[in-house]
Amino acid sequence: MRNSISSIHPTAQAVQDALARFAAEGAWRKYDGPYLSNLRSLLAATLGREYARLCCSGTFAVELAVRSLQLESDEEVLLAAYDFPGNFRAIQDAGAIVCLCDVALNNWVPTVEQLEAAAGPKTKAMVVSHLHGALAPMQNICSWAKQKGLVVVEDACQAHGAWIDGKPAGAWGDLGVLSFGGSKLIASGRGGAVVTNNASFAQRMTIFCERGNDSYALSELQAAVIIPQYEYLPIDHELRRNAAKNLLHHLSQFEWLSLVQLRILEQPAFYKLGLWIRDSILKMPPIQQWVQAGSGTAVSPLSVAREYVLQKLSAHPIEIGPGFNGFMRRSANRCRQPVALTNSRTAADSTLVLHHSHLLNPQTGGSTIESVQAAFEAMHQEMMY
Ligand SMILES: Cc1ncc(COP(=O)(O)O)c(C=O)c1O
Repeated sequence: MRNSISSIHPTAQAVQDALARFAAEGAWRKYDGPYLSNLRSLLAATLGREYARLCCSGTFAVELAVRSLQLESDEEVLLAAYDFPGNFRAIQDAGAIVCLCDVALNNWVPTVEQLEAAAGPKTKAMVVSHLHGALAPMQNICSWAKQKGLVVVEDACQAHGAWIDGKPAGAWGDLGVLSFGGSKLIASGRGGAVVTNNASFAQRMTIFCERGNDSYALSELQAAVIIPQYEYLPIDHELRRNAAKNLLHHLSQFEWLSLVQLRILEQPAFYKLGLWIRDSILKMPPIQQWVQAGSGTAVSPLSVAREYVLQKLSAHPIEIGPGFNGFMRRSANRCRQPVALTNSRTAADSTLVLHHSHLLNPQTGGSTIESVQAAFEAMHQEMMY
């Protein structure tokens, strides 16, 4: 008999069946076995890459990818100043210098021009992430990088199953990185992967991880949970994309919000749906009062306004929060900052991110997009007076 969760969503049923099979086989007694091997083959085939290295997290996968480049201590890796916090540390821990570039206006990902503006003679590589439903322009970035002899690490941790100009996210870079973290689109609590076609990079990753055993491993159990989720990923993406389009259409009535722009040739994956608060919100009376009263703890007027918005939305059952803090305030001892980081600062101050559970409701337990809409509606009404 199927229980109440699995009768709601097919992925949950597939995972439960896989776990039951796993238990019946006694497969938990193996360090490495058919599940890991099947997952490696599945990733390699899906992303058209020869090598797939599985590991303990997306955070570590980024570090491992950068480590595989064997950079010298004075060599630099480009990173957008608005990105996942662990990526800054990953480059440092791999022994290289972070060089910050800006992101596109009203976006969270860098353009080629922005990467080029920050690059210097010591630049050897870049980490480029797809964030909040926005996809980096990989075709342009990869052809520029190739021309300059730079290595591209493509962080697709938030974009598992997205497509960019006819190729899956994660398949563009010299190295592609994925996460199987608990909140991700394919989840096993923890886990990550790096894919590549480069035998030297793959070998260096193996050498770093092997200490008589794979010391940063994904387990057979995690692989058994991950594999069945791939079957439903395209269907779930389609449902999420449609829900996201409806929600964005509804939210477009609020002129104090900016919305992610969807390009025709892209099929984004909405791990989180990103929104921005615009400057015009600062003219609304309740926000002016809130800012003047010195309420909240944030530092810029926009981020103070965002605190107000999040506080109001917290009265509703919605999983929404701020985006990343960005690296603009990191000291010059810790990274090189050759360009102005204006758009990254705005992104850090104004971004809101809505978790994907709302886009697949009611099957995954998130409240419906209608209730997300109603929450924004109620807040808007309150701000008007
Ligand atoms: C862009 C990006 N890179 C890397 C990671 C790290 O993944 P993990 O949580 O598996 O360590 C995340 C996690 O949210 C992410 O958003």
